[in-house]
Amino acid sequence: MKAICPGSFDPITFGHLDVITRAATLYDEVIVAVGTNLAKKNLLSQNQRIDLIRQACAGLDNVQVSAVSGLLVDYCRDNGVRVIVKGLRSATDFEYEVQMAHVNSVLAGIETVFLPSAPQWSVVSSTMIREVARLGGDVSSFVPAAVATGIRRALDQQS
Ligand code: PNS
Repeated sequence: MKAICPGSFDPITFGHLDVITRAATLYDEVIVAVGTNLAKKNLLSQNQRIDLIRQACAGLDNVQVSAVSGLLVDYCRDNGVRVIVKGLRSATDFEYEVQMAHVNSVLAGIETVFLPSAPQWSVVSSTMIREVARLGGDVSSFVPAAVATGIRRALDQQS
C-alpha cells in the first residue's frame, strides 16, 4: 500500500525523518509530499526543501519526494495514495492534525494514520529551527548535516 507523509518541511528535521523512516517500514511505498502551508513564512523555497529531503532520505529505497501544489487529497487521488501518515508530538499537534484529518476524510474519504513522535524529537519543530538558524545558532543537533549546510547557504544568499 502507498502512503504519503505531507508537510512543509521548512526544513526537514530528525523528527520528520524518524516518522518517514517508520512509515517506510509499515508501507510498500512512501511519498514525502512537500506542500506549502499558507500560514507560515518560508525560509527555504520549495525546490530547496525538496533537494534537502532527497539528500536526507537517500538511504530509504521505498521513499520518493514530490511537490504538492494544490489540495493534498487531489494529489492522493491522482497517485493512488490511500493513507496519510503524520507524526504527533503533543496535544497541540493533535488538535490541529485532527482537523486536517477530518477535512481530508470528508473531501476524499482518505484515512490519516498518526505515529507518536519519538520522545527525543517531541519538542523539535521547523519553526524553532528557522528562528535559531536566522539568529546564527547551530541547528546541527536537530537536522542532518547536509540540511544544516543547506540552511546556512540559503541564509547567506538571502543576506
Ligand atoms: O508541516 P505542516 O506545515 O503542518 O504541513 C501542512 C501541510 C502542507 C501538510 C498542509 O498545509 C497541506 O496539506 N497543504 C496542502 C493543501 C491542502 O490540502 N490543504 C487542506 C488541508 S486540510
